[in-house]
Amino acid sequence: MKTENTVWHEQHISKAQRASLKQQKPCLLWYTGLSGSGKSTVANAVDSLLFELGYHSYLLDGDNVRHGLNGDLDFTDQARVENIRRISEVSKLFLDAGLIVSTAFISPFAQDRASARDKLAADEFIEVYIDTPMSVCEQRDPKGLYKRARAGEIKDFTGIDSNYDMPKSPEIHVKTAEKSIAECAQQIVSHLAKQGFISTDYFA
Ligand code: ADX
Repeated sequence: MKTENTVWHEQHISKAQRASLKQQKPCLLWYTGLSGSGKSTVANAVDSLLFELGYHSYLLDGDNVRHGLNGDLDFTDQARVENIRRISEVSKLFLDAGLIVSTAFISPFAQDRASARDKLAADEFIEVYIDTPMSVCEQRDPKGLYKRARAGEIKDFTGIDSNYDMPKSPEIHVKTAEKSIAECAQQIVSHLAKQGFISTDYFA
């Protein structure tokens, strides 16, 4: 830590005040799953649904964030740890702003997901496991990356020569190979309603 000569300033407007303005309870939907599992697609569908319902949400997406904030990081274990650390800190700021936040990163290591969880209040972190079999992800191969990884052109590829720790007890378990995207999005938004993050009017 290089913060010994800095002092934390309390802000005048609290997270609860910002959230009440939006009539929602901030939370973090932490999507995790293999490349090609459908994290971004499902997260975008949820984001759209929340927007239509009048809620203020924001999606941080792996590939996009790696174009900017985390453009200096590669896919070594160490860089992935730093990727997730930064995302969890940025998410915390967005939550503080009163938003419902979604993050769509492979986030392969259980320890890093646990650290992200530990930064928030107990009920705010919602792990969403996008559970799509590797064979299906590889068949989809939307960016042609599995093919290139199998050919040895990409190193440290998740599921091939880099580890993925499966979530043991995610709050939401989504099976994209068995449901439509709309059904997956509905499953997640229903969970938010049931847990009181948004009004129960829509998904009673
Ligand atoms: S994470 O492991 O650090 O959480 P992140 O979600 O940011 O990964 O980025 C994953 C995306 O980067 C994949 O969807 C894929 O498009 C691309 N990618 C490029 N190289 C790799 C690699 N070696 N392993 C996994 N994904 C990769």
